Amino acid sequence: MASRDIEKLNQISDQINNDGGRSIAVKTDITNLDSCKNMLNESVATFGKIDSLILNAGISMWARFDRITDISLFNNINEINYQGSVNCVYTCIDELKKSRGQIVAITTAQALIGFPNASAYSASKHALHGFLETLQMELGNTISVSNVYLGWIKGTNLRANALGPDGKKIGASHHKHSSRAIDIDDCTTKIVQGIEKNRIAIFIPSFLRFIPITKLFFRKWLFRKITKVTSQEEN
Ligand SMILES: NC(=O)c1ccc[n+]([C@@H]2O[C@H](COP(=O)([O-])OP(=O)(O)OC[C@H]3O[C@@H](n4cnc5c(N)ncnc54)[C@H](OP(=O)(O)O)[C@@H]3O)[C@@H](O)[C@H]2O)c1
Repeated sequence: MASRDIEKLNQISDQINNDGGRSIAVKTDITNLDSCKNMLNESVATFGKIDSLILNAGISMWARFDRITDISLFNNINEINYQGSVNCVYTCIDELKKSRGQIVAITTAQALIGFPNASAYSASKHALHGFLETLQMELGNTISVSNVYLGWIKGTNLRANALGPDGKKIGASHHKHSSRAIDIDDCTTKIVQGIEKNRIAIFIPSFLRFIPITKLFFRKWLFRKITKVTSQEEN
């Protein structure tokens, strides 16, 4: 497990190891290539190889594009959601080829269609989507690539850490999830089940699988629907 907050990671790692699993925590900033290399080296030193790379790290936003006052927000989101994932794949690709392993991207419906208040987030996840699709074509015989497309999930820190129009974290109080959001435990159970079954696309909730076809045939209706649903998440 890799992220920047090593104390939090160590707590989770201890829990896994006490429950009979085997894990290590490696302090990692995925925007830094040397840090990614260290994550790989520590993993291979402990486990001998890597079977799966789960691209989970991400940061979100909540701001209409025409209200953004600091455009560096785009770089900051892209650096983690897109370039950070590319850095991880770049670092791990040779080991994954050796083990004929898998890459799993924890992504979003917003990789398939834009959402209001999420221009940079949606763009970064579209970019990641395109990058992984290319990998699938280039290396599909050796490595499997899966995408987990999520709707709104409650119980994580994504909204509290989301960036506002000034490019700074909005904080926990800004907007809460509506009843539409899915519980984190249901979500993680479905992700694990999907990975075990080697699914190349996992949609949570499952109706998200209709986005591409609906966008093709009912584009205007879908845009109106998403705009309405997103506005209900404002408060
Ligand atoms: N929650 C939702 O509604 C939702 C919906 C769709 C998709 N997703 C996707 O699900 C994934 C997980 O998000 P979440 O909801 O669990 O949000 P979260 O609670 O905010 O978790 C984000 C994780 O990313 C890590 N991270 C951020 N920047 C990093 C960096 N530079 N280097 C390494 N790790 C970094 C954070 O750890 P540190 O801060 O300790 O580094 C944290 O563990 C994201 O990719 C997100 O886009 C979430």
